Amino acid sequence: MKEQKPLVVSSLRSSLLFSIDGKDAPTLSTTKVQNYKGITFSSASSNDQNTHPLISQFGRMDYLLPSLLIEAEDGSYSGRFVFQHYEETDSFSSPSPLPASRRKGKGISFYYVDDHIHATLVLNISSFLGIEGYSFSVSVKNCGKKPFCIRKLSSLQLDLYGDSPEVYSLDGAWARERTLHKTVLNGGRMEIDSRCGASSSFHNPLSVTKVGDLFYGINLIYSGNHKTSIEVDSFSRVRIESGLNDFEFGYTLNPQDTFYSPEALLEVSDTMEGISSSFEKLVNNAILPPRFKDAIPPILFNSWEGVYFSFDKEKILSMAKEAKDLGAELFVLDDGWFGHREDDSSSLGDWYDNEKKTGGIASLANSIRDMGMGFGIWMEPESISEDSDLYRKHPEYAMTIPKLEPDRQRNQLLLDLTKKEVLDYVIESVSGILDLTKATYLKWDYNRNFSDIYSSSFPLGEYGYRYMVNLYKAMDVLTKKYPDVLFEGCAGGGSRFDLGILSYFPQIWASDNTDPLSRLSIQKGTLLGYPPSTITCHVSSSPNGNTHRTSLLSDRFAVALLGNAGYELDPTKLSLSDRKEIKEQICFLKRERQFLHSSSLYRLNSFEDKETDIYEFLSPDNKRILLLFATTKEGKIPVSPLFLDPSGTYLVAGNKEMSGKDLMGKGILFDGKIPKDGNSCHLKTRLVFLQKK
Ligand code: DGJ
Repeated sequence: MKEQKPLVVSSLRSSLLFSIDGKDAPTLSTTKVQNYKGITFSSASSNDQNTHPLISQFGRMDYLLPSLLIEAEDGSYSGRFVFQHYEETDSFSSPSPLPASRRKGKGISFYYVDDHIHATLVLNISSFLGIEGYSFSVSVKNCGKKPFCIRKLSSLQLDLYGDSPEVYSLDGAWARERTLHKTVLNGGRMEIDSRCGASSSFHNPLSVTKVGDLFYGINLIYSGNHKTSIEVDSFSRVRIESGLNDFEFGYTLNPQDTFYSPEALLEVSDTMEGISSSFEKLVNNAILPPRFKDAIPPILFNSWEGVYFSFDKEKILSMAKEAKDLGAELFVLDDGWFGHREDDSSSLGDWYDNEKKTGGIASLANSIRDMGMGFGIWMEPESISEDSDLYRKHPEYAMTIPKLEPDRQRNQLLLDLTKKEVLDYVIESVSGILDLTKATYLKWDYNRNFSDIYSSSFPLGEYGYRYMVNLYKAMDVLTKKYPDVLFEGCAGGGSRFDLGILSYFPQIWASDNTDPLSRLSIQKGTLLGYPPSTITCHVSSSPNGNTHRTSLLSDRFAVALLGNAGYELDPTKLSLSDRKEIKEQICFLKRERQFLHSSSLYRLNSFEDKETDIYEFLSPDNKRILLLFATTKEGKIPVSPLFLDPSGTYLVAGNKEMSGKDLMGKGILFDGKIPKDGNSCHLKTRLVFLQKK
């Protein structure tokens, strides 16, 4: 076989190497090439067990799960895509209706043609400008005269080589989102997926797989049904695929139309911590709406856990007054202000003021602004209650199957966002409330999953994808129309925490569980692939409304610092000492938020440690460090911060000088003395600043 110079797509610390030999499909080999760390692509044929294709097709001699499955008009499934040519690109962009990453650098587009169904497939692989990581996406164009049906189209396929890969997945449920699990795969296939319409709390689209001595972190820029599968064969081949879930999927592509897969992001590193810190930078710089990247969010008080549905104008104003006195900058009125909503059984869709409760939402918002705070509001734009004027007028807006009793969750239905008139309604209703209240913050909630999907306009296999395309349209229109409004994603807690939402909204409510011990686990999992600024974390009251465990206010605050910290309690009910402490916390936040927001966050102990969490916030100039230590374990634990200057001197905790060398050697001793109160979280946290002199 003719040797050719490999094509290289380089990121900061790793490179993807491709060799093309004649018309052979580009394939992947796991041999590390000298001077390159990462994945290498070789040119051997795909029948060779040591080399691996970038796409795989059902009906050929490859019996691992295929990345591509297309049903031709004649009913056959046998993929005939043949590699044609490649083009090198400088900053790939695509007309896809799905959100895309920015700041793409050099990349390669591989072109394949299928002469049976008359289609072209383009696989785009790009690096990023000055950021570690790669973007993968695939599009298929129907160039023929007959439609065909795309049954599966993965965005990324990595064929690697190694025994017993270790798969790290983020699994959970309501109030237990993104719990990190490790599975060693000695054989067979593991699938991390969602089938409920949203990216879900069940399995997040982010996963990390260790094959050989490298970790491969993958995430999708998508908020709907996703699937990542990891399969091992008897020849130590490990195939990882990620993309749209093919369960109940089928997209009919008409002549001249093009279908776009969501973008997948890949990080390659020697360590889990390396994956986490690369994703932090990639998401900050290439995903989050640029205008929020350096913007410091206001310190907010949210009404939900303080009063739930039971409030009136006087109550909200008294809460807001107290919040202001404590130092808050934004007051958020959560659920319950619209229609005739007194509990979760009514009014979703009726996005007009419940004057009995608010005394007029516009004037309530004005009164809060007059106190010197911003006003924020809650909506659930994608949902509908059967007890609502909207449902009485437009029952056809709801996601239901004609003549069948729908499944209800939290007493509600979803809107059928695949319909243009529903999309328009969502945009109008959110605009109406923002115009009326002049809110500068909007919490966009979503409290149930799909069921009863139906459409008389297109095949149901397209439903989830079309819903997402329209959801992104709504988010795109609204965030452009209201560029100064801070939108926060939410989904019955953190059930739609993903890069699709973060492409429009810079932050997402991580979980309805605000117990600090539960939160440490939820936030640890989330931090594996999402920056702290995206994770909304609120200090709530004790005992916790969900777990009924008690905790110290200082511990709740320390844990909230691992994200975007705010408050969610009734400030009129605080004890004098809690009031004083919260005032001090808010002063601390105001003093340190610039540092916290601009810092990089590193996890200093293993992600697999279930008892202790040690994090380091590091300022961009490497001179200021905040160590955040949390444990449920008794005993002394030495901690050595990263990125110290061995010849420098550091002021530790504002009163003790230590040399960089000593800090690197002995470290700082943290004492895990745990409060023994029977019902408590049994948690101990500590914050220590280090300042280079
Ligand atoms: C679920 C959210 O996660 C909560 O924060 C709160 O907004 C409720 N919905 C309101 O119904």
